[in-house]
Amino acid sequence: MLKILTVIGARPQIIKAAALSRAIRTHFHDSLREIILHTGQHYDNNMSGVFFHELGIPEPDHNLNVGSGTHGKQTAAMIAGIEDALIHEKPDYLILYGDTNSTLAGAVAGAKLHIPVVHIEAGLRSFNKYMPEEINRITCDHASTLLFSPTMTGFNNLKREGFRADTAPPHTIDNPKIYHCGDIMYDNSLYFAGIARERSGILEKYELEPGKFILGTIHRDNNTDNPQRLTSIFRGIIRIAEESRLPVILPLHPRTSGVLTGHTGNDTYDALTKHALIRITEPVPFLDMIMLEKNAKMIMTDSGGVQKEAYFFRKPCIILRRETEWKEIVEQEAGILTDADENKIIHAFRELSTRSEETTFPPIFGDGRAAEFICTELIRNKT
Ligand code: UD1
Ligand code: UDP
Repeated sequence: MLKILTVIGARPQIIKAAALSRAIRTHFHDSLREIILHTGQHYDNNMSGVFFHELGIPEPDHNLNVGSGTHGKQTAAMIAGIEDALIHEKPDYLILYGDTNSTLAGAVAGAKLHIPVVHIEAGLRSFNKYMPEEINRITCDHASTLLFSPTMTGFNNLKREGFRADTAPPHTIDNPKIYHCGDIMYDNSLYFAGIARERSGILEKYELEPGKFILGTIHRDNNTDNPQRLTSIFRGIIRIAEESRLPVILPLHPRTSGVLTGHTGNDTYDALTKHALIRITEPVPFLDMIMLEKNAKMIMTDSGGVQKEAYFFRKPCIILRRETEWKEIVEQEAGILTDADENKIIHAFRELSTRSEETTFPPIFGDGRAAEFICTELIRNKT
């Protein structure tokens, strides 16, 4: 029996972990035992606890409760806590997801204790090192032993950085192996879409008709922490609502709602919060989010995960960023990069509204069985 220790901390990692935990429970419980460590990077119930219950993820065995803080303080507290847990648990593998500070902390702690680091969602690059996530993902990839990339773009980025898919075992941090395996978020979207239809009442709650509303999320620090950029995005959203006469639902990350409530008296922020067509909500549970994504006319977001889910559910996407790690979405013309530019946002809305009939969504994110593939390779590499 192999013991794996999974580090989660931020909302998308908790959701991603559901796919691997489910694969272990269903197919690999005889060979893999999972220990879960929650760093506590996200801690509000609607950013963390709710996902455990609704997605059937086991309660964490360790919770570091680090909470919010500067990058240095938050990451340092996580490294110390993860190190303690690794010394105590002595796992065969350390599993890390994505590119958050929890990912970075796990990579540093695991690599220095010589525990093989497995990076899921490896190889993604924005080529913008001003993003904290770019630093986190590059560091994690280069401290990893097994690297699972969701897309060919990610796989090729790794090859360009010197990684290889044909290294001979045994694999180590100095002899790592890369895989192209598809996206575990796609596994989740396929699995939970039917369950969401049965259990979610979000459309009724907000009086939304299928195909007749827009869904938006905003949380990137360079959008929320820059008043000019955030104002321009909000103006773009108001213009879309007024031009289309469609409601826009915005489940806001606490980082973004914190800015809104902290700046009452700002004309644009006030106009947004009081607008009859705009529904601002707290973060919603995943099943509700899937229902919103599946039924929206269009999605606008700066989230990595939401961009991809837009694609999974064949929805056009306005990407509120200058660049994206998921460049296939833009290449397929299913998404348009608008940065935080009010005029680009409204132009993208018009362009995607007319284009959407012709857009195709080839299966570039795998076959929905990435988690099983990963589990099989974890076992193969230890036998
Ligand atoms: C983090 C990740 C980002 C990811 C996002 C997913 C880093 C550097 N960033 O960004 O890559 O896309 O998670 O959502 O790791 N807050 C709360 N309650 C919570 C959590 C956060 O109020 O439960 C507020 C706090 O004011 C906090 C702020 O949100 O300071 C930012 O949280 P933090 O985890 O530092 O970064 P995110 O913006 O969430
Ligand atoms: N999500 C959710 N409720 C929300 C907003 C997002 O369940 O109110 C889910 C979304 O469906 C996706 C994940 O959270 O699976 C994306 O996380 P987020 O946008 O916080 O981070 P990113 O993917 O940008 O790192």
